[in-house]
Amino acid sequence: MSERTSYYPELAKEIQPAEGNLGVLLPGLGAVATTFIAGTFLACKGLALPFGSITQMQRIRLGKRTNARFPLIKEFVPLADLKQLVFGGWDISRESCYQTAIRSGVLPSNLLEPVKKELEGIGPFPAVFDRRYVRKLDGENVKQAGNKMELAEAVIQDIENFRIKNGLKRAVMVWCGSTEVYMEPKKVHESIEAFEKGLKANSPQISSSMIYAYAALQSGTPYANGAPNLSVDIPALTELAQKNKVPITGKDFKTGQTFMKTIVAPGLKARMLGVSGWFSTNILGNRDGEVLDDPDSFRTKEVSKASVLDSVLQPSLYPDLYSRIFHKIRIEYYPPRGDEKEGWDNIDIFGWCGMPMQIKINFLCRDSILAAPIVLDLVLFLDLALRAGMGGIQEWLSFYFKSPMSRPDLKPEHDLFIQHLKLQNTLRILMGEGVLDHSGLDYYESSANQDPVLHSKAVRRSKSKKPKS
Ligand SMILES: NC(=O)c1ccc[n+]([C@@H]2O[C@H](COP(=O)([O-])OP(=O)(O)OC[C@H]3O[C@@H](n4cnc5c(N)ncnc54)[C@H](O)[C@@H]3O)[C@@H](O)[C@H]2O)c1
Repeated sequence: MSERTSYYPELAKEIQPAEGNLGVLLPGLGAVATTFIAGTFLACKGLALPFGSITQMQRIRLGKRTNARFPLIKEFVPLADLKQLVFGGWDISRESCYQTAIRSGVLPSNLLEPVKKELEGIGPFPAVFDRRYVRKLDGENVKQAGNKMELAEAVIQDIENFRIKNGLKRAVMVWCGSTEVYMEPKKVHESIEAFEKGLKANSPQISSSMIYAYAALQSGTPYANGAPNLSVDIPALTELAQKNKVPITGKDFKTGQTFMKTIVAPGLKARMLGVSGWFSTNILGNRDGEVLDDPDSFRTKEVSKASVLDSVLQPSLYPDLYSRIFHKIRIEYYPPRGDEKEGWDNIDIFGWCGMPMQIKINFLCRDSILAAPIVLDLVLFLDLALRAGMGGIQEWLSFYFKSPMSRPDLKPEHDLFIQHLKLQNTLRILMGEGVLDHSGLDYYESSANQDPVLHSKAVRRSKSKKPKS
């Protein structure tokens, strides 16, 4: 295979250039959103590096290992530059991004000071909000309308005004709002027609985040869902995304404990070590933690976190190893910790002859510090997908999510390493490069031709493979 030959030449894309500024619209200007915006401004001023961001810091291998082609991803694919990003958003509070960033206490005030003016310049549009879906919050900056279709139209108008004001051709929306109560897909979510009827009839099955998602898709704006609530993950909206050729992705940023789970579980499975129990508990004291203190919002999070182990360990294929796992997840709201979450995992495993062993993980993470670079990457990759004409679910972005969206007949992939390979190979395919399978066989087959010992072995092997006449 020549270096630049793709296995999928028909999938390489004509990608429109990233010309002009790119709007970044965030429903929910809380801890994650303001940490992301502040960090991006700091990076633009050269005052911080965007650690954790694949688009900004990761290199991608192209072609053979011997060729040493390792460009930065941002140099390999045509992404918007950080300086081209223009921020806006909605929140139920009237605080500016600077006030929220100070109150959230994620980045210290001395780090926020150099970008104070920029952050003060971003104040939220009035939100689409209903306490039925987030019971722990109440706000003063909320849109009033006759029905949910009118609310969606008001959000479409906000997007349009934002575009005109900032001279933008493109924008991306990332839901950074609070986790909504647990809901299951119902009839009203089944088709675009049913959903639009439901909007007009104020259906209680249509939550605020679904209204933002609908508005985004109707205005050609890619949408990512950073929370575990359904939002865009319903047939009506996936169909609309496909129909309008708008990329969508979600759900629930993969940051702390689940990030660890999707690193450790594939390792245990790769070595065929059994798991009998996995107990995960967290304490966190930010507003997200307060919202998750409501059992119905917690249920949404719990369902999102729980599917990970089943999917990675595949108990139906490995019943002896993984069919009797006791998996328990707890999240406790503990205000003194603020955004500095602490997670404990106790993993009971077993090996040779069934002998038990234990693993303990104590992760002292900072939630929004881990989430902010994910928001940045999603913005840039969704904009890339839009310019490449890729509508509908972007499964290659499942790397970023606890509960990845996929076509209903496909099981979503949770293994972080497969997700990473999928992401990088998608970029290679988009750019007409060969995908990498990492087998490395071809190096040894070709060097066998030069090495007499290897050569004779290779000849013997190829002879033994010849069909008997
Ligand atoms: N930080 C992480 O590591 C992480 C990981 C996975 C998912 N998440 C999810 O990301 C979301 C944001 O997390 P956070 O820590 O910034 O929470 P946060 O509470 O600081 O911010 C959420 C913001 O959303 C606003 N909001 C709620 N409903 C809204 C609506 N309908 N319209 C507009 N604004 C609305 C709230 O007023 C608040 O300012 C949460 O849903 C959280 O579960 C966070």
